[in-house]
Amino acid sequence: MMTRYHVLAGLSALLLIACTHQASVDGPLYRNASAPIEARIDDALSRMTLEEKIKLIHAQSKFSSAGVPRLGIPELWTTDGPHGIRTEVLWDEWDQAGWTNDSIVAFPALTALAATWNREMSALYGKSIGEEARYREKDVLLGPGVNIYRTPLNGRNFEYMGEDPFLSGTMVVPYVQEVQKNGVAVCVKHYALNNEETFRHTTDVDLDDRALYEIYLPAFKAAVQEGGAWSIMGSYNLYRGQHVCYNERLIMDILKGEWGFDGAVISDWGGVHETDAAVKNGLDLEFGTWTDGLTMGATDGYDAYYLAKPYRDGILNGTYGTEELDDKCRRVLRLIFRTAMNKDKPFGSICSEEHYAAARRIGGEGIVLLKNERSVLPISASAKRLLVVGENAIKMMTVGGGSSSLKVQHEILPLDGIRRRAGDLMEVSYARGYVGDVGGSYNGVNSGQDLSENRTPAELIAEAVQMAKEADCVLFIGGLNKSNYQDCEGTDRRSLDLPYGQDDVIEALAEANPNLAVVLVDGNAVAMPWIDKVPSVLQAWYLGSEAGNALADVVFGDVNPSGKLPFTFPRQLSDSPAHRDGKSFPNRGKSFYDEGIYVGYRWFDEQDIEPLFAFGHGLSYTTFEYGPARLDKTSLRENGQLTLSVRVRNTGTKTGAEVVQLYIADDESSLPRPPKELKGFQKVWLEPGASAEVKFKIGPEALKYYDPEAGEWIAEKGGFEALVGSASDDIRSRIAFSLK
Ligand code: BGC
Repeated sequence: MMTRYHVLAGLSALLLIACTHQASVDGPLYRNASAPIEARIDDALSRMTLEEKIKLIHAQSKFSSAGVPRLGIPELWTTDGPHGIRTEVLWDEWDQAGWTNDSIVAFPALTALAATWNREMSALYGKSIGEEARYREKDVLLGPGVNIYRTPLNGRNFEYMGEDPFLSGTMVVPYVQEVQKNGVAVCVKHYALNNEETFRHTTDVDLDDRALYEIYLPAFKAAVQEGGAWSIMGSYNLYRGQHVCYNERLIMDILKGEWGFDGAVISDWGGVHETDAAVKNGLDLEFGTWTDGLTMGATDGYDAYYLAKPYRDGILNGTYGTEELDDKCRRVLRLIFRTAMNKDKPFGSICSEEHYAAARRIGGEGIVLLKNERSVLPISASAKRLLVVGENAIKMMTVGGGSSSLKVQHEILPLDGIRRRAGDLMEVSYARGYVGDVGGSYNGVNSGQDLSENRTPAELIAEAVQMAKEADCVLFIGGLNKSNYQDCEGTDRRSLDLPYGQDDVIEALAEANPNLAVVLVDGNAVAMPWIDKVPSVLQAWYLGSEAGNALADVVFGDVNPSGKLPFTFPRQLSDSPAHRDGKSFPNRGKSFYDEGIYVGYRWFDEQDIEPLFAFGHGLSYTTFEYGPARLDKTSLRENGQLTLSVRVRNTGTKTGAEVVQLYIADDESSLPRPPKELKGFQKVWLEPGASAEVKFKIGPEALKYYDPEAGEWIAEKGGFEALVGSASDDIRSRIAFSLK
């Protein structure tokens, strides 16, 4: 007799046959995009040989790894990062591949992005660069960089987001999310403590746990936990005597343990020096070993990589089991499924009008007006003769600086942007003023500019002064550049001073014409011995393809500056915590971070040192008035929230934006704490006369510090203060509350 059981059993058998049949038509499970990713990984792994697994976890060329060709699992293509998509190089050399379709849009440097203090700009940046990466068929973008700005001498600060963990930890998240919507992984770099370049392969960083957790790690943690980053780059330096690419504490305990990171750890290029620790401490993908110019060797022997033959031999002779290997393969497969094998990813786009517009907008919003006495800026409509002086007005800045160097489709130079905007309104003349770096090439990409100059410094200054006397207004455009010992990977700056005698040029111009504005094109703080003689100073960063247009927008007042400094400008190097008491720098062996948590404004506040320009500082062509801050309650309970509101009014005559900053001070604590720490910010746009109520939620998270004894974050009961202001040194109101 046929029972219900028999009918059901028969149906299941039929279903099983159908499913099996289905599988044979659509191929194996790992290819089925609608199956759960972990099941696909299990399936792929079960089909792979030892050889294939080993091949999966190290490079096959300068920028790619092999995938699993027999199974149709594609190669993984990486690219620098972080300001635009790098040009194609040869398979096994740094030289140019000679493609003609790999020119891109250069976006502003990450310091400029951070200076916008605007999450929307970070999202726009991520979306735009993610689309370019996708169009160029890249799977992993080597960026963004979030190493903390510890010293103004670090040659790579321009690739990072400043000195504050909250600011960089907030700004990195939308960048990560928007890039990855393109089916392109970010590779957040350089994890961690890579805060100087000179001896980056041998510097062993020594710091306490509070500094590690409170200052140097939060931006990475935010990128991983809030942004959902799919990969992270292990840095070159050491921590506790072990290279960071396979550092037991940083990778195994913190990144993969405490933070639950499920992505892949990729080594920085040439950052691996041994097999054993690389096997055991969580390095998943090895790149750049034997890379000429970084470690030894002219051409790469991929099979000799530490995670290649030595690892395979170790498994075959029983030194290693296969558990670690499977974990590495899982992570790399997960990365491939999320990117190269992601069927739903969009197509991307390159050099689009939208991308140029994004670069210009981000650049304009990132420019910081440091000083503007007598309103020299924006340039008055009545000015008829404008003189531009300085090499950075005519120098391409997208070429150079190290791995972030780019080959752009176009780059609007500052002088060209200014001339274009000035049109027939005024006559724009130019004087060189000084000679800096006349070259411009990186790995075979040449700027094509010939900036050579035979006149002496005195002749150049004399010419500039003469012309300045005849002008209505003078713009000096200088700063640093992307050559060695300036804003450049692999080296650090040798001093805080402006190079090439620029101080002399500026002093001479200030005497010749009172209407002088100094524009600094660079990614670091510089000394300004002439500051009292110069009425206006603009911090203009490296702005990429649209540099000249973005600068002209601000100089002529089409865009009202709203950027704020993401790091402190010290008056002199010894004011900066890493250089106090003449501390030696760069650090060949151990680098002691014994300023601890007192980095940036935390140090200046604590020591009561007046900075040249404070963290969070930035003026506008209009003015803002703050009302008193109000709290909805005076005490906060654990798991509760307070709401702080403050009314901000545009009291000037131009539409503008203000970044309202919230700092918290802990009045009673068991451990020392900085006088104040940034815990919130919001940018508001206001018409003249208009006002807006800005609200911040304050929860216990904002009150916590890291307790090294307990190994956890603690919000201690007692009194706190909320400080609201326009800069870290311009607090407009403070209000007390307590945690109960
Ligand atoms: C840099 C990385 C870069 C890599 C690949 C290294 O020298 O430190 O930031 O992504 O090269 O170019």
